[in-house]
Amino acid sequence: MTEKIDPALPKVELHLHFEGAAPPAFIRGLAKEKNLDISKIFTEDGGYAYRDFWHFLEVYEAATSTLQSPEDFHRLALAVLEDRAKDGVVYAETFLSPDFCGGGDVSAWREYLHAIEEAAAIGQRDMGITLKGIVTAIRHFGPEKSRQTALCAAETRNGFLTGFGLAGDEKMHHPKDFTWAFDCAREAGLRLTAHAGEWGGAQSVTDALDHLKVERIGHGVQSIDDLALVDRIAEDGVVLEVCPGSNVFLGVYPTFADHPVAKLRDREVKITLSTDDPPFFRTTLVKEYETLAQTFGWTEEDFRAINADAARAAFCDAQTRDRILNIVEGKA
Ligand code: ADE
Ligand code: ZN
Repeated sequence: MTEKIDPALPKVELHLHFEGAAPPAFIRGLAKEKNLDISKIFTEDGGYAYRDFWHFLEVYEAATSTLQSPEDFHRLALAVLEDRAKDGVVYAETFLSPDFCGGGDVSAWREYLHAIEEAAAIGQRDMGITLKGIVTAIRHFGPEKSRQTALCAAETRNGFLTGFGLAGDEKMHHPKDFTWAFDCAREAGLRLTAHAGEWGGAQSVTDALDHLKVERIGHGVQSIDDLALVDRIAEDGVVLEVCPGSNVFLGVYPTFADHPVAKLRDREVKITLSTDDPPFFRTTLVKEYETLAQTFGWTEEDFRAINADAARAAFCDAQTRDRILNIVEGKA
C-alpha cells in the first residue's frame, strides 16, 4: 500500500524559475493594472495556454512582460514564497534573469535584486523559508547576452545571489558558446548549474559537464540513454535537479511510470525534486511527492533522504546548509 506523505514534510526546492512560478491570477492582475492585453496566453479556466515547449517559452516571456518594476518583482517574490510555504518548502533557490529585470543593465538589475532580496528577508522572518537566487542566462538570447548576464551576476554576487545558470531553448547554440560566461561566474565565486538533458539528449549533458564544469544539472534526465554518462554523474557527485511533473506535462516522457528518476536513483545518482514552473505545469511540490509515492512506492524516508541530498547540494554557506539539513532530517 502507498504510504501517505505528510504535505508538511520539510522540503528543499532547487529548480524553480522565478517568473515561471508566477500564479496566472497574479500576472492577469498586473496586466490589468498596466492595461496590457495578454488574454491570449490564458485558457478559459484561467491557466496558462500553450501548445508545446517552444510555445511555452514564448508564453513565458509574454507573461514576464507584465513585470516592469522592482516593486512588481517584490510582489512576485512574496507570492512565490507564499506558495512555497503551502508546500512545506524550507529552502528554495530560484532562477533570476537580469534580461527580464531592467534588460541586463547592471544598475537597473541592482534595484530589482534589492527588491527581491527584501522580499526574501520577509520570507525568512514570516514564513521560515530561506530563499537564494541563481542568475540565469537564457540560451536562446545567445552567447553575447550571456556574457553581459555573467558580468551582472559577478558584480552583484552576495549572500543571497549565490549561483549562475543557463536555461532556455537547449536546441540553440552549444554549451561551449557559454564557456566565457561560466568561467566569469566561477571566478566570481558563484556556484554553477545548467539546464541540459531535458530536450537535447545525453550528449547535451556531457557537453555541459565538459565545457561549463557545473556541479549540478537542470533536469539531466536524458542521461539515462547513456549509462557510461550515468556512472560518471554518480561517481563525480554531480546532482540532478529533477522536475518529473514538468517533463511529463511537456511530453518528454508520457507518464510518471516512464520517467527515469527512479532508475537514476537506483544507479546511485544524487537527484533532487522540484517543480520548474509549477503553475505552467499545473503542479505543486506536494503533488509531485504524492505522484512519486504512488508510482514508485517511495516513502517518507526516501523523500527525507532526497531532501538531505538537496540540502547538501544547495548553493549556500555551510551554516545555512547544516541548519537546513537538521530540519529535513527531523533533528530541528
Ligand atoms: N525556462 C523556464 N522553464 C524552462 C525549462 N523547463 N527548460 C528550459 N528553460 C526554461
Ligand atoms: Zn527549468
